[in-house]
Amino acid sequence: MRQKLMVANWKMHGNLATNKQLLEAYIEKLSPLNYLQVVVCVPYPYLAQAQSMLQNTNIAWGAQNISKDAVGAFTGEVSAAMLKDFGASYVVIGHSERATAYCESDENIATKFMQAQTHGLIPILCVGETLIEREAGVMQMVVAKQLDTIINLYGAAVFANAVISYEPIWAIGTGLAASAEQAQSMHEFIRGRIAKLDQAAAASLKILYGGSVNPQNAVQLLVMQDIDGGLIGKCSLNAQEFEGICRAAA
Ligand code: PGA
Repeated sequence: MRQKLMVANWKMHGNLATNKQLLEAYIEKLSPLNYLQVVVCVPYPYLAQAQSMLQNTNIAWGAQNISKDAVGAFTGEVSAAMLKDFGASYVVIGHSERATAYCESDENIATKFMQAQTHGLIPILCVGETLIEREAGVMQMVVAKQLDTIINLYGAAVFANAVISYEPIWAIGTGLAASAEQAQSMHEFIRGRIAKLDQAAAASLKILYGGSVNPQNAVQLLVMQDIDGGLIGKCSLNAQEFEGICRAAA
């Protein structure tokens, strides 16, 4: 059995004072839930705060992006090693909000994925299709291409120590989550594609679902065989709602 994983993606929200409150509530409400791993991905400036507040808890922390380069003259970038310096263990890679706004190519995302692994961070690779692609019935093709860029460069074994988050772009922040069947079908497809190349990596790989998960729809999604947890945006900013989602993983 793969242990469930719930990742809070705070995006560009919060400040020192509100983060403190939210992290205190996370610690109180979520650390007793020992049947799942909870991770919070904070904006860069708050990594030190996450580290100091979470270091003696069972809640892990991470960031929402890294540079594709290891070190050098890259103004404004943050490296994987810098995240490690703040005790981070996870990093979101290729979130569609970034990929679209900052024109990140699949190749770029693959390089970041490898940067994370090289520096001992677990990459949470986001994949998913647009509404137009879903309506055209090409969603599996789109996701396959996103996966294959990494597989072709580094092999399928890299997924043994990674997380994939299936995030249909039409479901992110829209209040319109994928149905449990739609999500399960894509998760099964993703696991199957990796299993063809590396059965062990596919079996241990955690595949999260992200996109308008809330305490009401969480159970339906999380009972599906290939859904190993969630990447939670909006509802992770409210400790009670996030707790509701985490409890659904039981
Ligand atoms: P949402 O965001 O939960 O607000 O839809 C999910 C995500 O962006 O990962």
